[in-house]
Amino acid sequence: MMSESWHGRRAVVVGAQGGVGKVISQKLRQRGAHVVAMVRKPYTDPAADLEVVLSPLSDQASVLEACRQVARGPVDALFVASGAYAGGTAIEATPADVFEHLLWTNARLPYYLLQGLVGPLREQKGRAVLIGALAAEEPRAGQAAYAMAKAALHSMVRSAGRELQGSGATINALLPSVIDSPENRQAMPKTDPSLWVSPGRLAELALTLADPAARDLQGALIPVRGRL
Ligand SMILES: NC(=O)c1ccc[n+]([C@@H]2O[C@H](COP(=O)([O-])OP(=O)(O)OC[C@H]3O[C@@H](n4cnc5c(N)ncnc54)[C@H](OP(=O)(O)O)[C@@H]3O)[C@@H](O)[C@H]2O)c1
Repeated sequence: MMSESWHGRRAVVVGAQGGVGKVISQKLRQRGAHVVAMVRKPYTDPAADLEVVLSPLSDQASVLEACRQVARGPVDALFVASGAYAGGTAIEATPADVFEHLLWTNARLPYYLLQGLVGPLREQKGRAVLIGALAAEEPRAGQAAYAMAKAALHSMVRSAGRELQGSGATINALLPSVIDSPENRQAMPKTDPSLWVSPGRLAELALTLADPAARDLQGALIPVRGRL
């Protein structure tokens, strides 16, 4: 499916300064969307031509307040590309603050974002696209906290898909295996990065799910494996 023009559509990107979120934002701008970046830190690229909503996004109140600012305009699409990873630690050795950070970023934050923006998305018959993780469906030792948090996000997407059924709005999630990022190249120097999922290809899939023509896809968790 070829993504059509985004002229006249307003898209919200959370995690817009991350590896994937930045590419999603760029592609949306190139195709003519009005892009709203929900960010914790001032946007670093002044030439990016985005509407920026700056918020600590650190608790329910701050997330909902940021959503109220966003909802001053229509919301045709919401991309949740924020996320955090920590792993390689057994359950008994995982510090509470690491566990809580993973739960907040990967599960609670997306839930409150949806709480704040599902109304505007319904109004526009819009598209929510979230980035989960294949690791939650095929977990490995040392990833319990991360897998648990992303599994919660996956479950939310499936439930929210039921809630949105018949509304014209949709919610779906992409579940990448490993993304080709500078951090992963550094952490796994012996692995061929062409096996991984490039941010560009993942962003392209995200835009495809947000296309008006994708209206029949609802509550789906879509594995994006690359060549792994
Ligand atoms: N990298 C992988 O191999 C991999 C594999 C599977 C799934 N994923 C998922 O794919 C998505 C995109 O990954 P990526 O590689 O682009 O990640 P990334 O480069 O690390 O970017 C993560 C983004 O999330 C934002 N963020 C982190 N914690 C936040 C918080 N508490 N509140 C608000 N924003 C927060 C960061 O904002 P700041 O700029 O403010 O720090 C950053 O923009 C994420 O959901 C990730 O979990 C990644």
